[in-house]
Amino acid sequence: MTGPSVNRLRPRRSCLAVPGSNPRFLEKAQGLPADQVFLDLEDACAPLAKPDARHTIVKFLNEGDWSGKTRVVRVNDWTTEWTYRDVVTVVEGAGQNLDCVMLPKVQDAQQIVALDLLLTQIERTMGFEVGRIGIEAQIENAAGLVNVDAIAAASPRLETIVFGPADFMASINMKSLVVGEQPPGYPADAYHYILMRILMAARMHDLQAIDGPYLQIRNVDGFREVAGRSAALGYDGKWVLHPGQVDAANEVFSPAQEDFDHAELILDAYDYCTSEAGGRKGSAMLGDEMIDEASRKMALVVSGKGRAAGMTRTSIFVPPEA
Ligand code: GLV
Ligand code: MG
Repeated sequence: MTGPSVNRLRPRRSCLAVPGSNPRFLEKAQGLPADQVFLDLEDACAPLAKPDARHTIVKFLNEGDWSGKTRVVRVNDWTTEWTYRDVVTVVEGAGQNLDCVMLPKVQDAQQIVALDLLLTQIERTMGFEVGRIGIEAQIENAAGLVNVDAIAAASPRLETIVFGPADFMASINMKSLVVGEQPPGYPADAYHYILMRILMAARMHDLQAIDGPYLQIRNVDGFREVAGRSAALGYDGKWVLHPGQVDAANEVFSPAQEDFDHAELILDAYDYCTSEAGGRKGSAMLGDEMIDEASRKMALVVSGKGRAAGMTRTSIFVPPEA
């Protein structure tokens, strides 16, 4: 059984995709301010390049400087012939320098269980801590979305549920070729149901919800707009494919300074009002706003995201005159 002491809620505002077959990009990625990097053996890596890319990834994980970043490798999905060798080569070769394995095109809970079992065997064989390496599950087709609750419950290794818009749009025949943008002729947000469905499953199991790529890499305004939608719903971060998208993602998925300050004040005011000195009350006024336990929970989310992003508050709490 798994039961390690890792914190699975890592900052993931920007999750940088890097083809595992491209040493130049693997070199450059180390210097970018992304919260997470994932070295890709799947769709960014041509079939004939995959065997060598496994070894390139092992080398870069072991010898590169990834400090400050969550290190993830995306393997190929279980319907291919590549998955087991991707996992065995990468985890045996660099398991101690790897935080998570990302599994694409997940269709049911068994696919997560299979990866969990394989990881456990490798960790045992290699003498690594059992259960430390996490799993990120990509939802990229109708089966994955319909089964997302069971998928999110399938392993204690799970850290994130990730929306894969490109494969998803193809799998449901959505009438658009511009990944992340709305299909023409539909008057509302065509992604709303999918994003919310994934978010509910993730939150039910205390996992992070991550939005996938935006392929128009030169259109940073378009990226901001699409990222802003999933951030508004509650998503924790989004993939980035290009250095130009990294700062935008970090900004969009961090709270605004004003909201961070406000959240910190709510937490202080609530602590004070429930304390002996504050009269052990269950609610209090903060300026014109009444706050209670539910306000504290909302503030904790904003404050947690801000602290994880390294923000510092710019205002202090002054207890009211007794
Ligand atoms: C990502 O893998 C996607 O298909 O969008
Ligand atoms: Mg995909």
